Amino acid sequence: MEDKVNVLISEEEVSARIKEMAAVLNRKYRGRTIHLIGILKGSIMFMSELSKYLTVPVTMDFLAISSYGNGTSSTGNINLRMDLSVDIEGRDVVIVEDILDSGRTLSYVVELLKERKPETLKVITLLDKPDRRVVNVDLEMTGFEIPDRFVVGYGLDYAEKYRNLPYIGALD
Ligand code: IMP
Ligand code: MG
Repeated sequence: MEDKVNVLISEEEVSARIKEMAAVLNRKYRGRTIHLIGILKGSIMFMSELSKYLTVPVTMDFLAISSYGNGTSSTGNINLRMDLSVDIEGRDVVIVEDILDSGRTLSYVVELLKERKPETLKVITLLDKPDRRVVNVDLEMTGFEIPDRFVVGYGLDYAEKYRNLPYIGALD
């Protein structure tokens, strides 16, 4: 059976907000190079859209995390599935994530990357579900705070589907 996807944040709204986020980064990182690190796979669409509007020099890398949960939430059991391809020592790193939920994934990634001595380490996320937080994570910037609903699209999946939707939808 097809799941019902209701538009929560339209393509136009997402796109406008990402341009604003890029403008903030362009000001903050003037004279520096932003090393974007996307967390696969959810961050792909946000990261590619954001990077189009960055006017400071940009480099990119990715890492993949696995967390064993019930499919709609992560557990404490988080592992690195694919590591970065270049060293981050001395770089101005911006971690790019699709959604901050319990905070377990991002706090794991932040602790992991901190040990590798980047010059600076910031986190940006397209979506934030603050009601679900279990572990605190310091965010540099958030696209949208959303209520505690399961969302798909713009990189986010349900059982690997819907990542390609150009808007954020709620699965109800
Ligand atoms: P956390 O570790 O609980 O913060 O979960 C973060 C990860 O769970 C995200 O990177 C997503 O992959 C996934 N996730 C959390 N909430 C949603 C959602 O509403 N839709 C799709 N994936 C989600
Ligand atoms: Mg993810």
